[in-house]
Amino acid sequence: MNVVVLHGPNLNLLGNREPEIYGHLSLAQIDRRIADRAAELGIAVHIRQSNLEGELVTEVQRARGWAAGIVINPAGYSHTSVAIRDAVAAVGLPTIEVHLSNPAGREDFRRTDLVAGACTGMITGLGWRGYLLALEALLAISAP
Ligand code: DQA
Repeated sequence: MNVVVLHGPNLNLLGNREPEIYGHLSLAQIDRRIADRAAELGIAVHIRQSNLEGELVTEVQRARGWAAGIVINPAGYSHTSVAIRDAVAAVGLPTIEVHLSNPAGREDFRRTDLVAGACTGMITGLGWRGYLLALEALLAISAP
């Protein structure tokens, strides 16, 4: 199974960025854990971070044809991006949205999530482990 993992804006700053909210691991450390767990599960992963909305849209579009599923943390774009939502809906792949924190327990503006409605499911508030659980979820829901 092939899976595209996408990290949105400011997630390149993980480790230094508000560690009390997002944890102490850098994105490179999280990506290592994702790659290790994917290998254990027999999943091939393509992992990408971008601060640009259009690049995330393009990555979602590119997933079609190669990937059987997408894991995406749209970060701040979760709350604003019709374009990323439309891309997820357009490709029609099983997609798990991940948030390190639990946006539902934070500021009111984070309770609006435009991308979520196009996703198959969502994992929030479990830190970096959410990405590993999302890989397992994609395997589980793709099983016959
Ligand atoms: C986040 C939550 C978003 O509200 C925020 O804008 C982020 C990170 C998370 O992983 O908890 O950048 O997606």
